[in-house]
Amino acid sequence: MIDRISPSILSADYGRLSEALAHLTAAGADMVHIDVMDGHFVPNITLGAPVVRCLRGSTTLPFDVHLMIQDPLFFIDDFAKAGADRITFHVESASDVSATLDAIEAAGKEAGLAVKPGTPVEAVYPYLPRLAMVLVMTVEPGFGGQSFRADMLVKLTALRAECARQGMPELDIQVDGGIGASTIGPAAAAGANVFVSGSALFGSADMRAEIARFKALAAAARQA
Ligand code: DX5
Ligand code: ZN
Repeated sequence: MIDRISPSILSADYGRLSEALAHLTAAGADMVHIDVMDGHFVPNITLGAPVVRCLRGSTTLPFDVHLMIQDPLFFIDDFAKAGADRITFHVESASDVSATLDAIEAAGKEAGLAVKPGTPVEAVYPYLPRLAMVLVMTVEPGFGGQSFRADMLVKLTALRAECARQGMPELDIQVDGGIGASTIGPAAAAGANVFVSGSALFGSADMRAEIARFKALAAAARQA
């Protein structure tokens, strides 16, 4: 299993995003997690495709775009053209899941499907063969800096088993929300391999050392 760290720029200084991208790239991040919120699907507003386009030149790392928006289908082309590499949307959104996957595939991008804490993870099972990644939210989406919900670990275990059952044992399983030094191990042991971290990474004095520590903690927990 390959572990990857996707720092969330939700915790960066929005006036200096290109500097944040340079910083996390130099720190050894594997991708960049970009949280898109529309004020409807979640009670917060962040940024849209024009900002993603402006940031595209600041790093060569893949853009891992997390759409917390009511109608993702309507915006897939915008984010694809802006430079998203992986586009994750919510199974709870108003858009038809299959049609949205069609749009992501037509744009030549990788698809991710996300579940909020209150949604059974089984909701994504019918779509697994079309996905590059499943995102299991470990906080209620909308804000950074919340506490990790350990009651979500059972979803990771069930999902990893279902991926194996469907012949995709190494499918990316992403966790997002409250990931830090004390929570990355349990998440990895339960089956996650792509770790979003916002406040913990941007609040650390040495992001490079922290990313290396996170990866070591994930690997050790999985082997234990
Ligand atoms: C929450 C976002 C997360 C958030 C994570 O709605 O989807 O990506 O930035 O931040 P931390 O790591 O601080 O919980
Ligand atoms: Zn996110």
